[in-house]
Amino acid sequence: MENSEAELIEKIESLKKRRNAVFLVHNYQLGEVQDIADFVGDSLELSQKAAGTDADVIVFCGVHFMAETASIICPDKTVLLPESDAGCPMADMITARYLREKKKEYPKAKVVCYVNSPADVKAESDICCTSANAVGIVEKLAGAEQIVFVPDRYLGDYAARQTGRELILWPGYCPTHVRIKAEDISRQKAEHPQAKIVVHPECLPEAKALADAVLSTGGMIRFARETDAGEVIVGTEIGILHRLRKENPEKRFIPASEQAICPGMKLITLESVLWSLENMEHRVKVPDKIRLKAKTAVDRMLEG
Ligand code: 13P
Ligand code: SF4
Repeated sequence: MENSEAELIEKIESLKKRRNAVFLVHNYQLGEVQDIADFVGDSLELSQKAAGTDADVIVFCGVHFMAETASIICPDKTVLLPESDAGCPMADMITARYLREKKKEYPKAKVVCYVNSPADVKAESDICCTSANAVGIVEKLAGAEQIVFVPDRYLGDYAARQTGRELILWPGYCPTHVRIKAEDISRQKAEHPQAKIVVHPECLPEAKALADAVLSTGGMIRFARETDAGEVIVGTEIGILHRLRKENPEKRFIPASEQAICPGMKLITLESVLWSLENMEHRVKVPDKIRLKAKTAVDRMLEG
């Protein structure tokens, strides 16, 4: 017989205590998974939480590169990803070998690496960034002769425009965010003329041009809390709507596109979280040879 949701949650909570585990959950996860989290946040906030936790086990409800980042920061903890196939296609658009070739082409360049990337790519990079701090990280490298930005060309393009620096961009992108077209946003704005528009920096430049604010998912959560607007058009993965609506029941949140769904983020369920804790799988562990170099790039990002 299948477990009812209440039974499942009870089992999860009791096993979580026994394992001394913490649940770190990304803003795009299914609502039922967000609701059992110790902390829900964006990539930067979740890395900061991983760095500060005293739990023995981190159950990472997000995608593979996020669990890897937690393993880079906390080598002594057990990091579990409840679904081994929960990946990010953008992170798979770059490899360490191709990045080494790029570095040979631009030997004087510093490499800024979006955290949506494999650990061995981080190990080849000077500094990491997330969508929340990419502009600040590029500004921090003011003395660099050239900057290679990998792997998201649209976040890189945004950081270039905001800082006025020419960046050497990698041709990666997020298949979910490029589905949000400028026409989708314009259509929603025509129907909701009073609404404010927030858009993730992974979106196309034409979509970002229509936004009142270009923000990480954590930035969108804060914007929603603080804005006087009663309606907000949301240009990112639709999993974030659960938290926006839960925290701001008096406001209306309209997805820019219902098509903006990240398949990897949707794999994790309450059942897979319970399975993960029961079996202590799937363990994500970055080998020290890669981890120590990658940690330098992640630590520089966390220093701010
Ligand atoms: P945030 O860090 O803004 O949550 O973004 C993560 C991500 O994967 C966006 O697609
Ligand atoms: Fe990767 Fe895009 Fe999914 Fe974010 S939304 S995890 S960038 S595929």
